[in-house]
Parts: sequence; C-alpha cells; structure tokens
Amino acid sequence: MSRETHPAAGAREPVVKVSCVRHTYPDRTQVHLCGLDFVVEQGQRAVILGPNGCGKSTLLFHILGLLEPQEGEVAVFGVNPARHFNRIRERVGVLLQDVDEQIIAPTVWDDVSFSPRSYGYRDAEVDRMVERALERVGIAHLRHKVCHYLSGGEKRKVALAGALVLEPELLALDEPFEGLDPASRADLVGLLNRLHDDQSVTLVIATHDVNVVKAMADVVYVLVRGGEIVAQGTPEEVFREPALLRSSNIEPPVLAELFQRLEELGVSLGRPLSIEEAARAVLEWGARRARPAAQTSEPTAGPAAGKERWPVQPSLPLDPTRGGGGGQER
Ligand SMILES: Nc1ncnc2c1ncn2[C@@H]1O[C@H](COP(=O)(O)OP(=O)(O)OP(=O)(O)O)[C@@H](O)[C@H]1O
Ligand SMILES: [Mg+2]
Repeated sequence: MSRETHPAAGAREPVVKVSCVRHTYPDRTQVHLCGLDFVVEQGQRAVILGPNGCGKSTLLFHILGLLEPQEGEVAVFGVNPARHFNRIRERVGVLLQDVDEQIIAPTVWDDVSFSPRSYGYRDAEVDRMVERALERVGIAHLRHKVCHYLSGGEKRKVALAGALVLEPELLALDEPFEGLDPASRADLVGLLNRLHDDQSVTLVIATHDVNVVKAMADVVYVLVRGGEIVAQGTPEEVFREPALLRSSNIEPPVLAELFQRLEELGVSLGRPLSIEEAARAVLEWGARRARPAAQTSEPTAGPAAGKERWPVQPSLPLDPTRGGGGGQER
C-alpha cells in the first residue's frame, strides 16, 4: 500500500462512520439509516445494496455533507462532513447517481479540470492531472467533446474522471455501473480494484449490480425500505442466503442462486461467487464422481459406479421463478 493516512495501526479511526441517522425530506419522507452502524475502514471497499428508494443515495449525501442529519452521527476522516466538508473535500472523490447534476462545464476537458483549476494548481500540473484521469477511465479521445452531446455511459465516465482527478483517498460512487456496457463495466471494476490495491483508496459504492460485488467488495451492507441497515458482511456471508436478499427485494447473484438450488437438489458444491470458483467446484466434483468406487468414500450404485451420476432425475421439475439473469465478473 503506497499511501498510509494514519500512522498507528490498531488506533485508526474508520474513514466513514454513520450511526443511526434520521433524515426527513421537505415533503416529510423519512429515511432512518439505523440498525447496524455503517463503518468503512481505511482501504476497505464497501458496497451498499438495497432496493429503489431505500436510502442508498441519502446515505451517500450524508457522507458527502450534502445533507445534515436531524438525529444520529456522521464522521468522515474524523470530521462532521455537513459542517466541515472544506477540511476534507480534497480527500474525497464523488460520482453522483445523476451525473447531469455533476457535469457543469461545457467540454470534457473543462469539466475534468475544474477541481484542480479551482484549487490553484499550475497549468502544466492541471494538464498532467486531467490527462491521467482521462486515460485511467479510457476517455482520452473525448477530451474536446461537448459534454451535452455525450452518451449516458460516456457522461458517467467523464464524471468519474472528475472524481479521480485529485487522486482522492475516499471515493464515494453512486451507481457507477449504470449504463455501462460489459467491457466498460469490467474496465471500471479493474480500475477501482487497482486504486484499492495500489493506492489503498477507500471505496464506498452504492449499486444494484450484485454481479460485480464479489469482484470488488470487502464488506457489503444491505439496506431495506425506510433505510434500515439489516445486514453487513463479506460477499460470501451476505449472499449465503439468497432468500433473505429476495425478501429485501434484492436480486441475488445468479451463481448464488444456482449453487443454492443445486444444494437443495442434493449436489453440495459450496457457494462459489465467481466464474473461476464455480468452474473449479464443478470440475472437482466431476473428478470426485469419476474416481473408481474404491478410492472414494461416496456410496456407489450398481452399473453406474465409477461414472458421473446425478443424485436427482434430470426431469425433476425446477422452479422457473428462481431463474436469474446477468453475468459475473472475474
Ligand atoms: N429531495 C427529496 N425530496 C423528497 N423525498 C426524497 C428526496 N430525495 C429522496 N427522497 C426519498 O427518500 C427515499 C430514499 O431515496 P434515495 O434516493 O436515497 O434512495 P436510493 O436507495 O438511492 O434509490 P435508487 O436505488 O432508486 O437510487 C425515497 O423514498 C425517495 O423518494
Ligand atoms: Mg440512489
């Protein structure tokens, strides 16, 4: 890790801590971000999952000091962001869900250079920072484009370049994968993981895209309608019970559902969440099945012994409502 912000390991404050925040919007809609505390340690990658309207963006707005809670506490780098965001703003990069609110300058270069210019960096330094941010996000070819004419996915990448340009220690990203094609999505997962691996950047990401979670989360928080934070854990822990996710109106990753269904059908291969792990689990299972009966402790059955055998009839009716879509990263 190339960047250590707090010298004493073990005595570190979390980068983000949100405790039982209540917010009432002007039309009296209440969001109560309570239940579990939302805590993100330095260098952690935290993903927030939850259905539409549960309060993911509201949570991020509090972290960014754009909203002030009526109750509860928010601390980012040890300060209250609603009161003292100026003290930490150079350390925080932001991608809002509505990128049109974020893109303010006429051209891509103007927009991405806005922060370094307003912080008074010299022209040559601004050029270097902007070029690096554009290249990281893969949009150097768009530098002279008029933002208004960009596609939705391109706009999101411009906003992301603007978030990265000051090389922040904390990146708060609201639905960063929305509108991205599969290659761009995989590139973004790779970029965020490199920022984490090489620079120990702390990531807070709200997303509906459960299939990227395994590839890029250390910790997952699950919100339900009204804002309650009902679960926290590693992707493996949170996805172990797809039924729980469904009851929170979150589509479980397709692999989590597949391997749970196989378990129900008598084939227990663990709960792999990536294609590689799943392929390995299936191959190992196949190898175990193919081993001669004498070498395996599994029961044998007549003439099929030593060959691949399925413990259930292939014609067993499967529940068509359990199908999931979507791909899996890595
Ligand atoms: N400015 C506002 N005025 C009134 N109500 C609002 C406002 N902003 C958000 N809300 C309400 O607050 C609740 C939480 O909204 P929020 O945008 O945080 O949800 P979300 O989890 O980010 O949803 P999505 O997945 O659709 O992005 C919703 O019921 C929403 O209608
Ligand atoms: Mg939102």
